[in-house]
Amino acid sequence: MSDILVTDQGPVRVIRMNRLDKKNALTLPMYEAMAEAIAGTAHNADIRCLMIAGGPDVFCAGNDIGDFMKAAQGSGGLGQPILDFLHALVRCEKPVVAAVNGNAVGVGTTMLLHCDYVVAGTSVRLLTPFVGLGLVPEAASSLVAPRLMGHARAFALLVMGQPLHAQEAREAGIVNDVVEPAETDATALAAAQKIAALPAQGVLMSRRLMRGSVDEIVKRIDEEADAFKLRLKSQEAQAAFMAFMTRKK
Ligand code: COA
Repeated sequence: MSDILVTDQGPVRVIRMNRLDKKNALTLPMYEAMAEAIAGTAHNADIRCLMIAGGPDVFCAGNDIGDFMKAAQGSGGLGQPILDFLHALVRCEKPVVAAVNGNAVGVGTTMLLHCDYVVAGTSVRLLTPFVGLGLVPEAASSLVAPRLMGHARAFALLVMGQPLHAQEAREAGIVNDVVEPAETDATALAAAQKIAALPAQGVLMSRRLMRGSVDEIVKRIDEEADAFKLRLKSQEAQAAFMAFMTRKK
């Protein structure tokens, strides 16, 4: 079965990460599939809302660390499929709902900052261990997280790597509903259907007004990617990747 499942449920496109044996760690083909599924809604008037979901016990363990190691040894940076995914998510004109259970690590958390409605199971733990891995924040989180939750909370999350549990994430303003894990998907889908039933042009224009400059967000994604590329090659990062890949359980 594919690592990314895309299904259209009436006016809602559901994009589900499905590499559960690796805790939904994202590979380049997974980013490609998600970017395509998001961008493909642009000229499809039948799709009025997107929903991003993971598994029943894990949302996403972030970027595949094996891919980070390969990138660190090559001449490239983050990888074009990652940038294509982030750009597609940020430029997406349809509202995006997320259904999150369990761990959401790295980009598993930062992608949520671009969603319009986030439903979290009580098991949720948001974590961005970028600095501990010798890296810097990505997905424009250095711009968007302080705006959403204030500098102090964003610093604890993005720089200190302190986790945010479901209720704390709600208090920080990045999660709408906290529900029992078994109810996360259904609650998110109901929210997506409710959004999809609203007048489409009214939603589109309201959302544009609320989000401000998308170009500014895209520019920050690209600036972070430049810094990320440098950090990937650092001794600190390479040692951290090796420690994860060779850790004993
Ligand atoms: N990249 C590559 N493989 C990963 C991965 C990642 N980001 N996250 C998990 N995996 C793999 C593990 O290596 C393991 O593979 P194996 O069964 O072949 O040994 C499998 O997924 C299960 O992971 P495990 O760590 O045993 O699950 P867990 O439930 O104990 O812990 C996490 C889950 C998400 C807390 C833990 O896997 C983790 O910290 N992952 C790394 C997260 C990270 O730092 N991401 C990068 C952010 S920038």
